[in-house]
Amino acid sequence: MVKEAVLNGKLTAKTKPVEADVFIIAVPTPVKDDKKVELSYVESATQSIIPHIKKDNIVILESTSPPGTTDNIVVPILEKSALKAGRDFMVAHSPERVLPGRIMQELVENSRIIGGIDDKSSQAVRKVYKTFVEGEIFLTDAKTAEVCKLMENTYRDVNIALSNELAKICENIGVNVWDVIELSNKHPRVNLHMPGPGVGGHCIAVDPWFLIENQEETARVLKLCRDINDSMPLYVYEKIKNILAGSNDKKTICILGITYKPDVDDIRESPILKLMEIINEENKLDYRIVDPHVKNINNLYEDLYEAIDGSDLLLMAVNHSAFKNIEFKKVMELMKEPNILDTRNFWGDSGLSEKGFSYYLLGNGR
Ligand SMILES: NC(=O)c1ccc[n+]([C@@H]2O[C@H](COP(=O)([O-])OP(=O)(O)OC[C@H]3O[C@@H](n4cnc5c(N)ncnc54)[C@H](O)[C@@H]3O)[C@@H](O)[C@H]2O)c1
Repeated sequence: MVKEAVLNGKLTAKTKPVEADVFIIAVPTPVKDDKKVELSYVESATQSIIPHIKKDNIVILESTSPPGTTDNIVVPILEKSALKAGRDFMVAHSPERVLPGRIMQELVENSRIIGGIDDKSSQAVRKVYKTFVEGEIFLTDAKTAEVCKLMENTYRDVNIALSNELAKICENIGVNVWDVIELSNKHPRVNLHMPGPGVGGHCIAVDPWFLIENQEETARVLKLCRDINDSMPLYVYEKIKNILAGSNDKKTICILGITYKPDVDDIRESPILKLMEIINEENKLDYRIVDPHVKNINNLYEDLYEAIDGSDLLLMAVNHSAFKNIEFKKVMELMKEPNILDTRNFWGDSGLSEKGFSYYLLGNGR
């Protein structure tokens, strides 16, 4: 689709803004090491529009942003142009909610929230999105739109933390968390999320911090859930150590998947990177990584079976579809010790224990 748009002249790319009717700002909004938002990309992108902005233009901030960014940062920068927001040009926040992997589809089909700095802005921006959005469009103010986007991802972070905590509880009391989740979710008003080795990506692991910032006294659940999810790589590392305890030899583990979620090539904020950091710091294990979606990572093996050869533990870290066709007979022959730790319930019911593996499942205390 991009190629076609470029070939027929409908899409051109430039490294600097040019005159336009509508400017959409969709630059990164990461957190810094201190978990405070980094807004310099939004500031410089907004700044770069100033020489080109003219009467009746529309500026849309799509970047996920802390409450007040549109009103208190974007608007004052744009008004350095001597034009007045609301009177001379229109501004709104319309958060992007596409799911990586389904972006082209969701850009069109998802519903959209438009938070204008005033009603005129909301109505004008609505017309822009109406040209391609088939989902419903909801109008509100800029700050409400900013909080909606942040809360959507925070909701998911909190629910994943709930399930990660439940997984730990189930291990302690001898229950399988995956059975609990499956059965509890039969309740019409319950939707437990999936536990795992942590939460990554540039959205769910980041956005709660925008609500926590300057609200530390109040945003206690949010902060605790961030901490619970961030604790999972260490929790997985401890499990690996326990499984491999009993000998002083340096053991080798083979890690399947390093991205922040299945079937994408994005490693931003991936909890598996954190796990690798812990392994490197502790220096008690050797590791090899297999990830068909990723290139240029230390210890990355292209061939799955070469990576497994001589290893003491196979870690299912990211449930990429490509790992569905693993030949366990071959794996059994190659592994030094046939230990498997599955953090995703990827192989839960496939009888690996019966095949001779020591199969450990995160959250299974049975
Ligand atoms: N990718 C998604 O699926 C997704 C989904 C929802 C929300 N978001 C939000 O959208 C925003 C962008 O995310 P992304 O994944 O597209 O980021 P990205 O890093 O993939 O792309 C951002 C682009 O911005 C450009 N850029 C950086 N500074 C600039 C500047 N000063 N002027 C002009 N361009 C500049 C970069 O070169 C890059 O091409 C973030 O706030 C993110 O949270 C993204």
